Amino acid sequence: MLDKINHLVEEVKELAASSAEEAEQLRIKYLSKKGQVSQLFDEFKTIPNEQKREVGKYLNILKTQALDKINELKASFENDTHGEVGTDLTLPGSVAELGSRHPLSIVRNEIVEIFARLGFNVADGPEIEDDHHVFEALNFPPEHPARDMQDTFFIATNPDVLLRTHTSSVQVRVMEKQKPPVRAIFPGRVFRNEAISARAHCIFHQVEGLYIDENVSFADLKQTLLYFAKEMFGADTKIRLRPSYFPFTEPSAEMDISCTLCGGKGCNVCKYTGWVEILGCGMVDPAVLESSDIDSKAYTGFAFGMGIERITMLKYQIKDIRLFFENDKRFLDQFKSAQI
Ligand code: PHE
Repeated sequence: MLDKINHLVEEVKELAASSAEEAEQLRIKYLSKKGQVSQLFDEFKTIPNEQKREVGKYLNILKTQALDKINELKASFENDTHGEVGTDLTLPGSVAELGSRHPLSIVRNEIVEIFARLGFNVADGPEIEDDHHVFEALNFPPEHPARDMQDTFFIATNPDVLLRTHTSSVQVRVMEKQKPPVRAIFPGRVFRNEAISARAHCIFHQVEGLYIDENVSFADLKQTLLYFAKEMFGADTKIRLRPSYFPFTEPSAEMDISCTLCGGKGCNVCKYTGWVEILGCGMVDPAVLESSDIDSKAYTGFAFGMGIERITMLKYQIKDIRLFFENDKRFLDQFKSAQI
């Protein structure tokens, strides 16, 4: 049997064909069910066991060589158009179209990079949350209007399972796991049961920031936000902090930046005030630290939260928030040149 195999190995080496059909005939002659190589495999079943190892080895070599040779012959005819209509090599190639990042991703990445330069790292938490992390641990009294059905999407009929209405829930998640110092930002999607309009959507994105350590002061908060505003909107940007109220910060403030469009002179973007609001912030309320077992006598902290849509709309002068969620290619294509 080894002789037969050797003989066929030599024969296969010399195979030649002058057309694809001839190559196919060779495949049938050697490799089809009744082909010569296949017949040897049938014969192989009948040889004594002690010869099987050696013969099997050569038989497999023969099979591979026959397959390779015949495939090679076939391939050599595949691109041959016999002088008929061929490929016009002078035609321009087809260019694979480049995609672009979504404007919200571009701005989110930019925000993350700016805060990374100040030593903030990134953390995240679940979008489906419970009352404790979204409200209770953040000092929302039980009757607070933000818990109202009108704002919060509850999952099924269980009032304890809900879609987070702000990324402040991640503050609680982080404080549970990590003891101070904490210096992190949390980008993420949030949900509010609001009527959809050019200015509001029921799904949007926020970036939350949290800094807890010994001796963190309001001055640290202000300087951090000023640095952010200048990096994001340009070195001439001014900020102003107005007193405000959030249950989880004390004191609380809202931050305006000088209008990016008119530089403060007054236009319809800033409603002729020269200022536009971009975020809420404040010193972490001691009650919030305590509810996460952080000693509020030893540590203080600040927190802030901003809407990515709002910042993106200001930066790119986008007039309608709904554009972010429609995925109209004509809209998205305009962000191809963004680097980040
Ligand atoms: N969570 C607040 C909101 O969604 C923003 C905020 C975050 C305010 C952190 C203060 C501190 O409006």
